[in-house]
Amino acid sequence: MSHCNRKLRPRRYLMCRPSFFEVTYSINPWMDPDKPVDTELAVAQWERLRQLYLNLGHRVDLIDPLPDLPDMVYAANGATVVDGKVLGAHFRNAERVPEGPAYLDWFRSNGFTELHYPEHVNEGEGDFLITGSWVLAGTGFRSTRAGHAEAQEFFGRPVISLQLTDPSYYHLDTALMVLDTDEIAYNPAAFTPGSRAVLEELFPNAVLAGPQDAAVFGLNAVSDGLNVVLPESATGLAAQLRERGFRPVGVDLSELLKGGGSVKCCTLELRESTA
Ligand code: ARG
Repeated sequence: MSHCNRKLRPRRYLMCRPSFFEVTYSINPWMDPDKPVDTELAVAQWERLRQLYLNLGHRVDLIDPLPDLPDMVYAANGATVVDGKVLGAHFRNAERVPEGPAYLDWFRSNGFTELHYPEHVNEGEGDFLITGSWVLAGTGFRSTRAGHAEAQEFFGRPVISLQLTDPSYYHLDTALMVLDTDEIAYNPAAFTPGSRAVLEELFPNAVLAGPQDAAVFGLNAVSDGLNVVLPESATGLAAQLRERGFRPVGVDLSELLKGGGSVKCCTLELRESTA
């Protein structure tokens, strides 16, 4: 494989400033309501991520954060957008349910006309990752297989269901990332043997992340085809990516990690069309 011609494709992202971010409940093993959160620092770290995207030439839209929805900063969970079609999110946990309609409102007011109000549980791009050929879909903790089927019908793209096994990697985007069209990186230990076999079959040249990089949320990263923005402590993964011709860009999102999220969780990609 030749890697010298990695190419940045400008993206459009949606983000939500963590003005009301805190950890008041626990719905994943990373969240400890007894551990203090520095909201101001969270905002500063998030602001650096937004600025980085702008400096790389991407467009960043913003949705207003709402008080009482501390997890709204994790915009990736707010919807899934493919070919300009918006599949709304339907959260598993009561604490996050109101985020679904809040995000759909944003899409309705911002010129998106093909909206689907979901019947089954799906947590947006937390569990749906789009490659050139497929929609990779996680289940086991949050999104359901019925939610996967609903996505397949709405987008008309083949959905590959993958079973997650480790509660620390409860969303697909904590265990797997899309690097380029049909090129991915993942943490094999986060999947059942059957799902691992499916990934090996579909992506024989995937980057396999080690446990240390996975544990610092190294796979919760965003690639534009050239730059891969990832948590700075995922140094092993960064080296693997550099070897493949990518440009890893490390960022510090330590405060957001206290809610169980990092770079990708804070970033929803708005795909207007595949052309
Ligand atoms: N506290 C949030 C939750 O548990 C974190 C979501 C992280 N987002 C993501 N795309 N993995 O739902």
